[in-house]
Amino acid sequence: RLHLAECVGSTNAEALRLIAQGDPPPFVVIAEMQSSGRGRRGREWVSPPCQNVYFSLALRVCSGAEGLSGLSLVVGLAVLDALVRVGVQHVGLKWPNDVYIGDQKVAGILLELTGDLADVCFVVIGIGINVNMVASEGRISQSWTSVRESLGQSLDRNTLISILSESLDVYLRRHKDEGFVGLRDEWESKHIWQSRFCILSAGVRPVKGKVLGVDERGALRMEVDGGEQRFSGGELSLRLD
Ligand code: ATP
Ligand code: BTN
Repeated sequence: RLHLAECVGSTNAEALRLIAQGDPPPFVVIAEMQSSGRGRRGREWVSPPCQNVYFSLALRVCSGAEGLSGLSLVVGLAVLDALVRVGVQHVGLKWPNDVYIGDQKVAGILLELTGDLADVCFVVIGIGINVNMVASEGRISQSWTSVRESLGQSLDRNTLISILSESLDVYLRRHKDEGFVGLRDEWESKHIWQSRFCILSAGVRPVKGKVLGVDERGALRMEVDGGEQRFSGGELSLRLD
C-alpha cells in the first residue's frame, strides 16, 4: 500500500506513526516535501517541495538481528542500481549507506526500528534522493549533487520511484535468501573508498587506517596500526584521510 502526502514532517516519522497506530507493514510513504526531514544522528535532511524523492518503506522483519544484518548496505545497492538504470554514471557507495555520484552525495538512507528486537520488529527504510534539486540555500554542509545535474536534464520522479521499487524488491529478496554474505563482494566493488586511507569518527577518539572492506554482517573492516579492527553502529562516520 502507498501513502501519498503533500507535506509531512518526515516520511520515516509518518511510517513509524502509522505502525504505532496499528497499520500493518508492508507499506510505503512518499511525500512531495518534508518539513523536518532527518538524517543520521539527528541531522537535518534538506527536503524542498516537488524536486526530490522522499520515500519510506515499512517492513516486518523476523528473527532478531539476523534479518537486519547488512540491511542498510543492501538498500544502498538497490538505490545505486536504480540510479544506474535511469542512466546515471559514476555512482558509488560510502560506508555505511551514503550514495555518491563521483565525490558528491546524491542520496541518503536512514533505517529506523521499532518493536521487540528479540522477536518481531518493524523496520522503516527511509530513502532521500536529490532528483531535480538545484539549490540548497546553504543548508547542506557538504558537497552534494542531483540526478538532474548528472543526466544534464530533469528526471520524472515517478519513473525513478517505480524503478527504485523494482530494485528494492530484487535486492531485499536476495538479502532475505542469501543474507548479506551473498551481496558482500558486490557491495565492496561499489565502495568509493575501498583500500583508501580514512579517518573514522568513533566517539571521542578518531581512528585512522586503511579500509579493507566489510565483514559478513556489514561492519567496516579497517587496518589500524598493523592489525584489523571492525566497526559497526549508527554513530560512525568515515572521511578520507
Ligand atoms: P556520514 O554518513 O559518513 O556520517 P554525512 O556527513 O553524509 O556522512 P549523515 O549524518 O549521514 O552525514 O547525513 C546528514 C548530512 O547530509 C547533513 O549533515 C548534511 O550535511 C547532508 N545533507 C542534508 N540534506 C542533504 C541533501 N538533500 N543532499 C545531500 N546531503 C544532504
Ligand atoms: C543521511 O544521509 O543521513 C540519511 C538521510 C535520509 C533521508 C530520508 S528522506 C526520506 C526519509 N525521511 C526522513 O526524514 N529521512 C529519510
